[in-house]
Amino acid sequence: MATVVRACMPLPPAAVASSSAAPSTDAQAQRRSSSSSARVLVLGGTGRVGGSTATALSKLRPDLNILIAGRNLEKGESLASKLGDESEFVQVDIRDRNMLEEVLQDVDLVVHAAGPFQRENECTVLQAAIATKTAYIDVCDDTDYSWRAKGFHEQAKDCGIPAITTAGIYPGVSNGLTSHFYQTYQSVGYATAAFVLAVLEGSTQPGVWFPEEAEGLAIESRKVLLERASQGTTIFVMNKPSWMIETDPKEVGLGIYV
Ligand SMILES: NC(=O)c1ccc[n+]([C@@H]2O[C@H](COP(=O)([O-])OP(=O)(O)OC[C@H]3O[C@@H](n4cnc5c(N)ncnc54)[C@H](OP(=O)(O)O)[C@@H]3O)[C@@H](O)[C@H]2O)c1
Repeated sequence: MATVVRACMPLPPAAVASSSAAPSTDAQAQRRSSSSSARVLVLGGTGRVGGSTATALSKLRPDLNILIAGRNLEKGESLASKLGDESEFVQVDIRDRNMLEEVLQDVDLVVHAAGPFQRENECTVLQAAIATKTAYIDVCDDTDYSWRAKGFHEQAKDCGIPAITTAGIYPGVSNGLTSHFYQTYQSVGYATAAFVLAVLEGSTQPGVWFPEEAEGLAIESRKVLLERASQGTTIFVMNKPSWMIETDPKEVGLGIYV
């Protein structure tokens, strides 16, 4: 059975800032109801986790409009051009709340992969997502930060915003689902992309959720999430090297395989 790593007690409820929630536009609401033309902003899209998430998303769902965001224009444009016509680069500094909210106005879901999350005292991106009524996912791997994000649960619920915190390979997939993964950047990307699609497809509900919470990710949608997440992984089987599992070799005798 998988071990759920949610070790620390919750922090005291965060002093939740009063919402400056802007009404979501009709276009935003319409797009959210159908994931076919959804716009997904990947903050930290020029980094390893964000880049692999954007790549995995474009493979799983080529029709998605994927916006790569970060501060480095050169890196961002290079990745966006590799992802094709449905992708573009947006220059954003997540420390600039106004800039963030402006970009989020026209987005259905934001993936926050612009770490590090450690020693970060604010949940600026989550707050901007709530303020603009934009669905949210982060790949946080820091306990304090994840509990701070959880402190925005009621505010997200009131605004009708689904948000999943810690939706990477750990503790996201490893806590929520039972499987065996080698941790590679490719697998983080597929894991995060699988969460993005689950939210776009309506498998969650308003509030800030940990992936293992039943209300955060519908039990019946977990099988498909796992199938998607596993596309970026190597299956681990005891006493067998990975080439034997993945290539179905035939033994020609004396322990020799082709
Ligand atoms: N949950 C999981 O399974 C998991 C696994 C691995 C890593 N992580 C977490 O994921 C985070 C990212 O890891 P990584 O390896 O991808 O790091 P990375 O390669 O250094 O990428 C960091 C990204 O964040 C962007 N960024 C940093 N500060 C920014 C700012 N102020 N405004 C806008 N963008 C900013 C960077 O873009 P520019 O520099 O171009 O602006 C870059 O795209 C880490 O914090 C790590 O803790 C989670």
